[in-house]
Amino acid sequence: MKSSDSPRSESMKVLAFNASPLMEKGNTALLMAPLLEGMREEGCEVELIYTCRLRVKPCLGDRACWTKTPGKCVQDDDVKMLLPKMQEADVIIFGTPVYFDGMPGTLKNLIDRLIPMLEPYFIMQDSHCRHPSRKRQKHPKVVLVSNCGFWEMDNFEPLVMHMQAICKNACWEFAGALLRPHGEALSYMVRKGIPVQDVFDATKNAGKELVRTGKISEKNMKTISRNLVPLETYVEMTNKGFKQALERLGQTRGSSLS
Ligand SMILES: Cc1cc2nc3c(=O)[nH]c(=O)nc-3n(C[C@H](O)[C@H](O)[C@H](O)COP(=O)(O)O)c2cc1C
Repeated sequence: MKSSDSPRSESMKVLAFNASPLMEKGNTALLMAPLLEGMREEGCEVELIYTCRLRVKPCLGDRACWTKTPGKCVQDDDVKMLLPKMQEADVIIFGTPVYFDGMPGTLKNLIDRLIPMLEPYFIMQDSHCRHPSRKRQKHPKVVLVSNCGFWEMDNFEPLVMHMQAICKNACWEFAGALLRPHGEALSYMVRKGIPVQDVFDATKNAGKELVRTGKISEKNMKTISRNLVPLETYVEMTNKGFKQALERLGQTRGSSLS
């Protein structure tokens, strides 16, 4: 029986994006998989989209979607297919690696192109100018799932702040962030068979509790972000890996580690 035929046809619609160019093979995917599995097990209808596979041009900035073709973008690309999905979603998951303290361009381009979902007028909300939503059947919850290459948790601060601000701007509810610092260590540990199942279990549980309670517990967030290796070890491992790769090319002369 297809899920759409089952009694779960009224199930929660989850629209998930993965903005890593490495797609299924990346570190972001390692977290997205158990999270979405947990949500599916709770009966959600989940669609996962890789932003790299989308044809989404940058916003033209002419506001034609407000003044000439209200609610519609004049550009003919995948945003046409995405806008109705965004409007119907109960939960939107933005999975992304940290790129220069933010999100990769494919995801930012996509978010910029969502402006037809808003009306041009200004309204006051919490003493702030905002645009009202054009179709307001749903106020989707938004979850950020991110991993970064550097070791420290504070590398996520600009991205989390940005995502929270985007949610306010788009009339979405920010429901939390699953953050995996020194993300490269996660895939390394998986490859080497070093125990890390608690991180994946907590990610799956986070998906389940998001469906059941609309929130993610502090306990699961902490486990997902837990230290995997000491800072010094991580720096050493990373530099060793890059040094070996460059030595194979004969290109270490003059580098800061030579
Ligand atoms: C262009 C680029 C920019 C990056 N910028 C940062 C950064 O500012 N901070 C950071 O901690 N990691 C940064 N990283 C590392 C990635 O966040 C990290 O490798 C992550 O695990 C990649 O996830 P993925 O495998 O899902 O693509 C950057 C990587 C690339 C390719």
